[in-house]
Amino acid sequence: MNTEFHRIRRLPPYVFAEVNAMKAAARAAGADIIDFGMGNPDLPTPPHIVEKLVETVQDPRTHRYSNSRGIPGLRKALAGYYQKRFGVTLDPETEAIVTIGSKEGLANLAQAITGPGDMILVPNPSYPIHQFGFIIADGTVRYLPVEPDDAFLDALERAVLHSQPKPVALVLCYPSNPTALTADLEFYAKVVEFCRAQDIIILSDLAYSEIYFDGVPPPSILQIPGAKDVAVEFTSLSKTYSMPGWRIGFAAGNPRLIGALARVKSYLDYGAFTPIQVAAAAALNGPQDCVAETRAIYQERRDVLVDGLVRAGWDVPVPSASMYIWAPIPEPFTALGSVAFSKLLLKHAHVAVSPGLGFGENGDGHVRIALVENTQRIRQATRSIKQLLSDPDKALADAADAAQMSVAAK
Ligand SMILES: Cc1ncc(COP(=O)(O)O)c(C=O)c1O
Repeated sequence: MNTEFHRIRRLPPYVFAEVNAMKAAARAAGADIIDFGMGNPDLPTPPHIVEKLVETVQDPRTHRYSNSRGIPGLRKALAGYYQKRFGVTLDPETEAIVTIGSKEGLANLAQAITGPGDMILVPNPSYPIHQFGFIIADGTVRYLPVEPDDAFLDALERAVLHSQPKPVALVLCYPSNPTALTADLEFYAKVVEFCRAQDIIILSDLAYSEIYFDGVPPPSILQIPGAKDVAVEFTSLSKTYSMPGWRIGFAAGNPRLIGALARVKSYLDYGAFTPIQVAAAAALNGPQDCVAETRAIYQERRDVLVDGLVRAGWDVPVPSASMYIWAPIPEPFTALGSVAFSKLLLKHAHVAVSPGLGFGENGDGHVRIALVENTQRIRQATRSIKQLLSDPDKALADAADAAQMSVAAK
């Protein structure tokens, strides 16, 4: 049977797979790998949320199919969050929908709005579903830079001027995965003005809305007057309440876009399990000190990691939000690229990171380090990295051998 299915051919092999396979092999051989690879929160979900789930699941009525758009109480809780946090009013009936994680919402909205060959503008590097959701939906992608500045706005204008057909949508994600860059309201206002004038849909991914440091909360694009004419924004409980496995996210904003997503979802799913949705509402409506505690933990990890890396001789930028350090490959290793450097870190320092190439070709000069290990493990990792950086020759010779072997094998 010919396995070259049309959609599968549009999906390149997973860049992270090579490093993941090496990680698994090292672990199987007994190595203690300190894993900063996946952005998978390691903190437990706060107990009051777990208790709400346990209490709700006892009621057999919750075992039936749920509601694909999300239970009304949870959509209302999201509207309450937007009102309190951003001063944005949402109609829970028409401007909010619950998704099975924000990733599902992004992918299914892409399905809903994309026709064959439609062009979508996506920053590079970015979280993979931002482009692949559209590629799976038979769209085509044109890359934009990721820095939210005047050069971005120029590139956006050029992309619209020179693309045929004209782009239908633009994806934004601030705080950004993987770069940790943040955007302000002034930037959002310029993008909204442009996209309203050009009739371009905006998908804003605000998965890290509450993971910010030094007291500066990231804004929502929906705060811009008129944004709802063109924009829909995705939020998630995965990072805010350490609930990645629960699979609860949201889309909010333009009613036509929310309606399109609801229509596609009505054919595909029956909504997240009701007890999970009830517990999610308890998360949004309940005490928020757990969120401040989570933020403080990530901030401490950030400080320990940045400090340790700088002491090791690896100068990295200090992120003001997200749970990532976007680290340029340090000098003696720059030429290796992000995949070979990630393998080298794994082999010689027993530290796993994500190669920047996995987020797009413009990410290849960096690796992404996720703040998902505790401070003691972070210190252990930076000590190993310091050793590696203070004597890079053996690791470099090893990497050169590996590269030669791989060329010979081809
Ligand atoms: C930018 C961004 N969007 C969305 C997601 C997925 O979130 P969820 O668990 O809600 O699907 C992630 C997860 O890492 C992310 O980094």
